Amino acid sequence: MTTIGLIGAGNIGGQVARLAVAHGYTVVISNSRGPHTLSGLVADLGPNARAATVAEAARAGDIVVVTIPLKEYRTVPVEPLAGKIVIDTNNYYPQRDGHIPELDNESTTTSELLQTHLPSSKVVKAFNHIYAAQLTTDGKPAGTKNRRALVIAGDDPAAKSTVARLLDQFGFDTVDAGPLKEGWRIQRDTPGYGPRRTAEELRSDLAAARRYADQ
Ligand SMILES: NC(=O)c1ccc[n+]([C@@H]2O[C@H](COP(=O)([O-])OP(=O)(O)OC[C@H]3O[C@@H](n4cnc5c(N)ncnc54)[C@H](OP(=O)(O)O)[C@@H]3O)[C@@H](O)[C@H]2O)c1
Repeated sequence: MTTIGLIGAGNIGGQVARLAVAHGYTVVISNSRGPHTLSGLVADLGPNARAATVAEAARAGDIVVVTIPLKEYRTVPVEPLAGKIVIDTNNYYPQRDGHIPELDNESTTTSELLQTHLPSSKVVKAFNHIYAAQLTTDGKPAGTKNRRALVIAGDDPAAKSTVARLLDQFGFDTVDAGPLKEGWRIQRDTPGYGPRRTAEELRSDLAAARRYADQ
């Protein structure tokens, strides 16, 4: 059985944990304040969930989801995530995260920052452009007409295939935006960021995306 570790148990982390448990995964959730603050969510999630420290969740997960305010990314533990698939949901909001010059000047992307911080992990960008609540309401079985699609990006093809299979189980088609450096095509204020889209629509959205400097 695959264990999914969660670093961050807020809007997105809580919903991904619910999806994971509903699809038979074991989850280990964590936050900044410690496992004792997560007893309510653990009780909601049921017997296949437990709370742990961030380092323990990172170690326990076969796949680990990082879903925290972006400004905290440097606190993500490096060693326990070595060699693992790390799903990055994070977005950049300067009013929340403060200004990060290399994102302001678009010389890198949010998930490339995390990949640089976790050099031995396989970072896959996912879940960044869907409202948290819709994660557990919009999923539909494979083959459903007009099934919602979600974008992934990553530098490791095998890791992306694994995440695409996970998304399919969770009820979503996948559109591969390419390597992490293409992740800007689904960043805040791009056409695909937020609305419900099929795979075909999302591919058009990615193609139509413009850099902040060109908007
Ligand atoms: N909300 C959405 O609909 C949505 C959609 C797509 C993507 N996103 C992105 O996904 C990320 C998470 O969003 P969210 O809405 O889930 O945020 P949130 O509700 O504010 O939850 C953040 C979680 O991260 C934890 N956390 C904060 N700093 C941490 C640290 N240094 N180490 C470990 N855990 C830490 C918080 O724990 P404590 O409470 O203990 O501090 C909390 O559990 C953000 O980058 C956001 O932009 C959000």
